[in-house]
Amino acid sequence: MNAPRITTVHTGKQETPTVKTLTFKDPSPIVPGQFYMIWIPGVDEIPMSVSYISESIKAITFRRIGDATEALFNLRKGDAIGLRGPYGNGFALKGRRPLFIAGGTGAAMLAPAIELIQRKKRTATVILGAKTKGDLFFERRLSRAGARVLVTTDDGSKGYHGFASDLAKDLLKNASYDAMYTCGPEPMMKTLLAFSGQRVFEASLERYMKCAIGLCGQCCIGEGVRVCADGPIFNGKTLKTIPDFGRFKRDASGGKISFSQAP
Ligand SMILES: Cc1cc2nc3c(=O)[nH]c(=O)nc-3n(C[C@H](O)[C@H](O)[C@H](O)COP(=O)(O)OP(=O)(O)OC[C@H]3O[C@@H](n4cnc5c(N)ncnc54)[C@H](O)[C@@H]3O)c2cc1C
Ligand code: FES
Repeated sequence: MNAPRITTVHTGKQETPTVKTLTFKDPSPIVPGQFYMIWIPGVDEIPMSVSYISESIKAITFRRIGDATEALFNLRKGDAIGLRGPYGNGFALKGRRPLFIAGGTGAAMLAPAIELIQRKKRTATVILGAKTKGDLFFERRLSRAGARVLVTTDDGSKGYHGFASDLAKDLLKNASYDAMYTCGPEPMMKTLLAFSGQRVFEASLERYMKCAIGLCGQCCIGEGVRVCADGPIFNGKTLKTIPDFGRFKRDASGGKISFSQAP
């Protein structure tokens, strides 16, 4: 399980100018919220959440932000990639009336969880937040699955004008959601945690990863909590005990970076 197995790109679909979905054959069972380490030969190995799950085909959906994601973006059908995993814990998804809040590429990893909820005949309300209209993706996919999808944009170019967390706050005042599931910028998730109250709360965290199997300590957050092995999904009770949550992450050499200074 810890050596990369080689597969090839099955299809590639550009979702926005900077976001792409690659599908590939992988028969390994995986649950929403888990991730792979994707090896791009000659470039790097990076963590990527699963964004589509069927028995034999899986997908990742990612934003082009640096060398590795740029190289992934340029892969074509038939090109080789290496897979390690699946790793991590996945969502528990215990609530009956769930509200999903996706900020930016967070929609990628929340999509299979939302589809699972719909298959279980529970209706998900989904807030899809993006900076601008052109950055939105998966709106049609999630509507087709039966979810109630509400769009927010920071610049007001589509849907609610404001942050996803602002709309979530409004919705929670007037409706009886009993669970919140979120992935997106960590300061947004920290804001959501602050008004989650007694609801089930699960958030997916990202930290720089190397081994992804709990050995190297690179992804530690707080007192020995490893995002790769103890997460990447954490519940509200645990997050409230982690002082770094929403405030600091670490770079490749372990140095602390404040989220307010991060690019
Ligand atoms: C569990 C997990 C799941 C993820 N799922 C997705 C996803 O579904 N879609 C998506 O677009 N992105 C996802 N990411 C983030 C993705 O791994 C990084 O954006 C990617 O590694 C950047 O690599 P790069 O070389 O293109 O950019 P770089 O120029 O190397 O870095 C750009 C940014 O990415 C961060 N980064 C770089 N390497 C890593 C690493 N090995 N681990 C974590 N962060 C890193 C850097 O700190 C920096 O802030 C996930 C991260 C984690 C930890
Ligand atoms: S990446 Fe090595 S312990 Fe998590």
